[in-house]
Amino acid sequence: MTLRYVLLGDPVDHSISPALHRAAFEAWELDADYAAWSVVSDEVEKAMRHPDLAGGNVTLPHKLRAAAALTRPSGAVRATGACNCWWRLADGDLAGDNTDVGGLGFALERLGFDPRGARVLLLGAGGAARGAVHALLEGGASSVEVLNRTAARAQALRAAVGGEALRVVETPDPGAAYDLVLNATSLGLSASDPLPFALDRGRFALACDLVYSAGETPWVHHARSLGIRARDGLDMLVGQAALSLKCWFPGRAPPVEAMRAAAVEALDTRAR
Ligand SMILES: NC(=O)c1ccc[n+]([C@@H]2O[C@H](COP(=O)([O-])OP(=O)(O)OC[C@H]3O[C@@H](n4cnc5c(N)ncnc54)[C@H](OP(=O)(O)O)[C@@H]3O)[C@@H](O)[C@H]2O)c1
Repeated sequence: MTLRYVLLGDPVDHSISPALHRAAFEAWELDADYAAWSVVSDEVEKAMRHPDLAGGNVTLPHKLRAAAALTRPSGAVRATGACNCWWRLADGDLAGDNTDVGGLGFALERLGFDPRGARVLLLGAGGAARGAVHALLEGGASSVEVLNRTAARAQALRAAVGGEALRVVETPDPGAAYDLVLNATSLGLSASDPLPFALDRGRFALACDLVYSAGETPWVHHARSLGIRARDGLDMLVGQAALSLKCWFPGRAPPVEAMRAAAVEALDTRAR
């Protein structure tokens, strides 16, 4: 019997997650499929409990809703209040994790970036930013400064995730140098978006954009034009997908390179 997994979100048409997961199932020669379902908020739990499904992923704007539906949330779900990966247990309970947290860790490791002792400027305070704060603080960052358009949302993030190393700022410290600046806003998804933040030479050692696209994102292009090392969100996407597979199929090694190649191909196809 075919094992069925889905991505739940609204919208989901743009998603390349099916391409990554299908590439993994193909490499494993596994009778499994992965589809994308567009669902409204009130239908999230019902979809997660659908009898045909073994599990799946959750994307914008349902990650908080999915967390609330779990009977067995992981520590990362409890810490961030967000779930992007769930699966059904033999007794019918729903287990879930936030693999965006480990996905960012995977991406930073690929860049050779160790968060221990790092000073970080984080742009944004939505669901992705919550996961990023958790990953950075767990990784030992000495300071994470959150800069968000809506200050109240940044304060809510601080109250939810907490920790002395986390501060809300209206503007970065003018004299400070940062080891990492991370874009966790949704700016860059649309070609007409302004840059999430104008960088200046010499103050930022590394820029990471959670947004990804075929070729460079505008913010990655901006950073590189100033000589700042920069990377988009593709590695994080691959990392969170690989960690989701580990939740669903414990003990199997996800075929990360095949998944990455499928992601690049899907982005190129989408851009044409
Ligand atoms: N690479 C990956 O694997 C991965 C994983 C997760 C998410 N992401 C990406 O991360 C981004 C954020 O996702 P999310 O789940 O955190 O979304 P979200 O919860 O909707 O948060 C959106 C964030 O963007 C800010 N923002 C939106 N429009 C803005 C504007 N015009 N000017 C300034 N700030 C603006 C929001 O600020 P306000 O609070 O002021 O509205 C908020 O901080 C998305 O692009 C998503 O695709 C990537």
